Amino acid sequence: MEEKIDLLIRNASELLTLKGENKARTQWEMNELGIIKGGSVAVCDGKIHAVATDEEIEWIVEVSTDTKVIDAKGKTVMPGFVDPHTHLIFSGSREDELHMKLEGKSYLEILSIGGGILRTVRDTRFAGEDKLFETAQKVLDRMLNFGTTTVEAKSGYGLETETEIRSLEVIKRLNEEHTMDLVATFLGAHAIPHEYEGNPDGYVNLVVGDMIPKVGEKKLAEFCDVFCEQDVFSVEQSKRVLLAGKEYGMTPKIHADEIVRLGGTELACEVGAISASHLMESSEIGIMEMALKGVIGVLVPGTPFALMQKEYPRARYMIDSGVPVALATDFNPNCWTESMQFMIALACYNMGMLPSEAIVASTINAAHAINRADEVGSIEVGKKADIIILDAPNHLHIPYRFGGNLVETVVKGGEVVVERAESSER
Ligand code: NIG
Ligand code: FE
Repeated sequence: MEEKIDLLIRNASELLTLKGENKARTQWEMNELGIIKGGSVAVCDGKIHAVATDEEIEWIVEVSTDTKVIDAKGKTVMPGFVDPHTHLIFSGSREDELHMKLEGKSYLEILSIGGGILRTVRDTRFAGEDKLFETAQKVLDRMLNFGTTTVEAKSGYGLETETEIRSLEVIKRLNEEHTMDLVATFLGAHAIPHEYEGNPDGYVNLVVGDMIPKVGEKKLAEFCDVFCEQDVFSVEQSKRVLLAGKEYGMTPKIHADEIVRLGGTELACEVGAISASHLMESSEIGIMEMALKGVIGVLVPGTPFALMQKEYPRARYMIDSGVPVALATDFNPNCWTESMQFMIALACYNMGMLPSEAIVASTINAAHAINRADEVGSIEVGKKADIIILDAPNHLHIPYRFGGNLVETVVKGGEVVVERAESSER
């Protein structure tokens, strides 16, 4: 029987459905985009109602005068991007650190002289809730324009109970008031604040004994993350934080083995983390364990790019070893990019990922990395109608035409929320 629908996107030159088993994709599965040439999607009540070829769809659904019809001829239609790792909440910016980086100063050196994260912490502590909200709102607007429809957002620039809670409350408010869907992660253990300099265990006590119980009781975060790194949090300290988070219902995530091979990758597997990020220096054993446990490797190629590094994480090796890989922007004041399209380009040019793998990593695998794969990440019946239309005849154009914005239309929960004219700036 034909059914009435609200929106019909028809006749895409490529419709990337990303359909497949409800699990994070690995190895050859990461090549499967579920492409329908001349594909159409019907939307009803904010959800995907039917997916078929243009000829078939007319038999399945009824187009009424109330149905909005978008002709996607010559265009690529796909699920909205999911960005599973961002440091969305902070105040200020750090553009001047570019000069230090050009002089050859490393990330940890800049941090040790009070720059980096600690500088942003100073700015963030001074900012009120409205300022944090407004800054993040603008970033989310730009992300949406670039085709991202779901975002994970971390706290982590407060490093004191009050500002960490305020950051998470801003995320909650953004989720309620902004078009974007947000998923909150508590990252109180992001750096050691100056008042605990030389006393990292004292700070871990505060995170574990005060912040986590409060965040947990207020149900402000689904995930708990930690920056496990030399001169930041050791493997033991990170473990304490992640296990404490788990006790309060927060699933572990981790910044692991970014600069020094400390063993954060192995820790992710030990504590049952849903994902581990960065992984620049992960050991072979750590990578093998991730594959066995299904821990998602969230790779953030914008970060080595922003740090002017030649080395990137070994994506090819990870995929071939069976790790489900996702991509993220790692949006933060050191790596200011709102574009998942650019991450796809970096993944292909600098990490040896195929365009199809990078797209899987930016949609369905990214959704799995934040436990949202039941709702988003693919164009399948029953999922949220978060759909983007690209002014490009096929998916290869995404990495091929890097640095711009191919997204023309963004549909969020069935509503057209971005519509960029043909002639608009790209
Ligand atoms: O994931 N490495 C730790 N945290 C962030 C950077 C934060 C910052 O520099 O402000 C990251 O890259
Ligand atoms: Fe990060």
